[in-house]
Amino acid sequence: MQRHDLLARLHELVQPRTYFEIGVRKGRSLTLSRVPSVGVDPFFVLTHELHCDVHLVRTTSDEFFARRHPFAHFPEQVVDLAFIDGMHLAEFALRDLINTERHCHPASVIVIDDMLPRSVVEAGRGRVGSADGGAWAGDVYKIIDVLHEHRPDLVVVELDTLPTGTVVVLLPDPSDTSLAAAYDHVVGDLVTPDPQDVPERVLTRSGAMDPATFVALPIWGELRAARRHRPAEARRRVRDACAASGLLQPPAQLSGQAPAAVAR
Ligand SMILES: C[S@@+](CC[C@H](N)C(=O)[O-])C[C@H]1O[C@@H](n2cnc3c(N)ncnc32)[C@H](O)[C@@H]1O
Repeated sequence: MQRHDLLARLHELVQPRTYFEIGVRKGRSLTLSRVPSVGVDPFFVLTHELHCDVHLVRTTSDEFFARRHPFAHFPEQVVDLAFIDGMHLAEFALRDLINTERHCHPASVIVIDDMLPRSVVEAGRGRVGSADGGAWAGDVYKIIDVLHEHRPDLVVVELDTLPTGTVVVLLPDPSDTSLAAAYDHVVGDLVTPDPQDVPERVLTRSGAMDPATFVALPIWGELRAARRHRPAEARRRVRDACAASGLLQPPAQLSGQAPAAVAR
């Protein structure tokens, strides 16, 4: 399944009231939205027609989040569905996730693209992977392990999408500050010179689920219904739905970590 086909399906299943996108470029992913949307990109050049009530912000995601009311465009200032597809460097994607989560609720869905590079070249921090017109995933894959280590409460689902893999994060908690607190320390380890030491598990996608299987899971109705509840009850409902679908199982093998080390 292509990443945009997954995103289109998630729009149908989540039925978001609001959509947020970091990294708009030509509007190929933003064109899928039919609900009030915010798109952020310092260099967008739209070639796709948009079909939503959209606030396009020509700036970096960091500058956007530094604003007093970044989601003033939304009737309710909360993000139901987010697509993080901006700067493909681990420290940027991690900041984008931390900042996006602050505007979510437990039933929000955060999608992060380019999380499963297919080669060390594609995972490079320099744009070497795109020199021949190929995909550039960068080293955003590194934040999968960061999430497992620092946020075991999140449900992090790796999906075997084309071309460069996608991760869906469920059960966000806008009140959790542990990732933000760990950020400086974590980034010191994340930023390493090319070539990147990409774990075999990432390259082979051995921990990834077939996206068709994921979208067929019976979690979406409960996830939509959970929005009607207060955060604690919504969290319990989404978590129960995830547990019933086997999504709370520890990942089989994290890079450099024994499975037992991954507590949930
Ligand atoms: C892969 S493209 C996005 C593609 C688009 N989501 C789609 O699926 O068609 C990445 C975009 O991120 C933008 N970008 C780069 N750095 C950024 C940043 N710091 N904040 C927001 N967007 C950024 C680039 O200008 C580029 O247009």
